[in-house]
Amino acid sequence: VKQNKNTIIYKLNEESLAFFKLNLRSNEAKHAVKYLHSRDITNEDIAFFEIGFLPKNNSLVEHLISKGYNISDIVEAGLGTYNEERQKMYDIFTDRIMFPIRNENKELIGFSGRIIETNSEKPKYLNTKETPVFSKRKIAYNFSEAIKSARVKKELIVLEGYMDVISLHKNGIDNTIALMGTALSQYHVSIFKNIKGTIKMFLDGDEPGIKGNIEASQTLILNNQKVLVVNNPTNNDPDELIKQGKKAEIEKMISEALNPLEYIISKRWPKVNSKDFNSVEEFMKEICSFVLKCNNNILYETSIDELEKITGLSKEAIINFYKKILNKQI
Ligand code: UTP
Ligand code: MN
Ligand code: MN
Ligand code: MN
Ligand code: MN
Repeated sequence: VKQNKNTIIYKLNEESLAFFKLNLRSNEAKHAVKYLHSRDITNEDIAFFEIGFLPKNNSLVEHLISKGYNISDIVEAGLGTYNEERQKMYDIFTDRIMFPIRNENKELIGFSGRIIETNSEKPKYLNTKETPVFSKRKIAYNFSEAIKSARVKKELIVLEGYMDVISLHKNGIDNTIALMGTALSQYHVSIFKNIKGTIKMFLDGDEPGIKGNIEASQTLILNNQKVLVVNNPTNNDPDELIKQGKKAEIEKMISEALNPLEYIISKRWPKVNSKDFNSVEEFMKEICSFVLKCNNNILYETSIDELEKITGLSKEAIINFYKKILNKQI
């Protein structure tokens, strides 16, 4: 029964995608196409990533009903909502550029819709709600495409947003996926399992991106997955760097990706006031907690040498610090 339900949702999503693509070619979509072009997304990219649009005056729900689909299935797929009082169906996505999201088997699980004018009160992106096939923690945008190249390059690059994937793809870097956020879950660990290579974390350069890179590294190390982190010294995301003409810098950053311990130290140590005891302790706490969560002996041993070099603390003091964290004294 569940299999059937999922099949109907996939079918509804495919029907919707065809409608979004058609609408992107209509007169009411001129501003949407103009916006995409302004972000350097060409007609070729639009075709490759199956980008669509739904104008204000057009209803997806009406279209789906005319095709014979049930109201309850449309609601369950997250494509429409039923108003009990008015006894009427409403569209969920309107006046948004539509990006289809497929799973590792290429099944169409849902959508993300971007508004064109980001100054309004509406959220920048609207994603499909949680459905039997769509879950925010289980998104790996572009995975079924990226895996082909990742197998050859023995490396998969993990980005934050789909705009970053599209931007790097058109610049020849095609082994990338997007989490569509900063959280890497057990789902991602499981689909990465059959890549015999390295995962390179490359989330946005801002603080949420840095935190995401650190947490994802922990999860991957804990699951015996090889991981390196791209050290983005700016506050920008990969798409913004491309826009600034920094393609060569991006390639260099990727090829010089750091091991997670080097990454976290290089992000945090420059902010420490080494003359301030509290500042050093905060730093030690973050690094040592990170190492302990990774539960990896080699990383633990390495960290003692590294921390000794950087902070000037003795190995004994560092080991004591670890013990205190383990005993919850710090
Ligand atoms: P970002 O805010 O970094 O967006 O969020 P972005 O990818 O750089 O988008 P542009 O360049 O402004 O168009 C990263 C990801 O987090 C999710 C989206 O999947 C986005 O790609 N997100 C962000 C949402 O789901 N909803 C939001 O309102 C914002
Ligand atoms: Mn971001
Ligand atoms: Mn971003
Ligand atoms: Mn942004
Ligand atoms: Mn961006």
